[in-house]
Amino acid sequence: MNIAHILAIETSCDDTSVAIVDANYKVLANITSNQLIHQKYGGVVPELASRMHLKYIMELTQECLYQADIDLENINAVAVSVNPGLIGSLLVGASFAKGLAYGLNKPLIAVNHMIGHVYANKIENPSLEPPYLALIVSGGHSEIVHFLDNKEFKIVGKTYDDAAGEAFDKVAKILNLGYPGGPVIDELSKDGDSSFVELPRALKQKNNYDFSYSGLKTAIFNYLDQKDEKFVKENIIHIAASVQLAIIEPLVMKTIRYAKRNQIDKIVLAGGVSANSLLRNMMTEETEKHNIKIFYPPLKYCMDNAAMIGAAAIQKYIDNDFANLDLNPFSTKGTRNI
Ligand code: KG4
Ligand code: ZN
Repeated sequence: MNIAHILAIETSCDDTSVAIVDANYKVLANITSNQLIHQKYGGVVPELASRMHLKYIMELTQECLYQADIDLENINAVAVSVNPGLIGSLLVGASFAKGLAYGLNKPLIAVNHMIGHVYANKIENPSLEPPYLALIVSGGHSEIVHFLDNKEFKIVGKTYDDAAGEAFDKVAKILNLGYPGGPVIDELSKDGDSSFVELPRALKQKNNYDFSYSGLKTAIFNYLDQKDEKFVKENIIHIAASVQLAIIEPLVMKTIRYAKRNQIDKIVLAGGVSANSLLRNMMTEETEKHNIKIFYPPLKYCMDNAAMIGAAAIQKYIDNDFANLDLNPFSTKGTRNI
């Protein structure tokens, strides 16, 4: 029997992405168009994002089919991320996916974007199965999610305010480092001294698994108030390294704390911030100490991409868990079953 192929679409924020993934988690093609237009605004402009998705989605789909060397008729299902995200952006992907599914007379599969990030890990590790603890850290979310099995999970920790990626982006904006801030701060930090600026770790003593980054922004503002431009420029690598540690350390500490207390032996990193080198290194060190296995996606599948949406759709395809054509995207935050 021929193996099933899923065409997946991801348009939840500012990256338009189309992928073709087979039922063995093999990615035949994964094409992403990053919308550079937002850089000059220092953040994503929702209406521009929707319009760019609309402009490029057809061309990307054709290119994707060409790269995968597969005809549309040989696609077995169409998957799309429908929540969370910018509603205008989600509507473009969902409308396009519905049209394709209807035209091809093939099933439609709805995927939660955060679950998609977790499934990015299956691309290199198809045998990875719950129970595990996922640290999902992106531009809009920071959550610790305990997956009991593929359908049942509980969110055991989350941010009170900014997400980890958002904290990177906002501090980078304050420091005039451009957008998105995470990769820039990561790169600058490589030779920096992370003890250079003393920055707060909110909720450190709290006996919970939540995060808060609003105090960090204030602390950076206050710090910069006392320093002149020349000093900041000369010491930018040390400032960046201090910020990076202040964002990453609580994520690692709280994830490990929960894992230890609940005898969890697998931790899975997911979301754009899982590309962060300090997060990967600290997690590797800490998990080794506690005999826990660590998983993180290949760099190219950390940031938003359609391959992860295809990967998350495979089990749903096997279970005949299909969406109706009246499917409506929604922007409510969080990891959830759809
Ligand atoms: O998952 P993602 O692509 O989009 C959302 O679903 O939000 O995550 C984007 C976030 C941005 O905030 C970006 O700054 C952050 O991921 N990011 C990083 C790194 N690469 C991307 N943060 C820290 N270090 C990185 N290397
Ligand atoms: Zn994302």
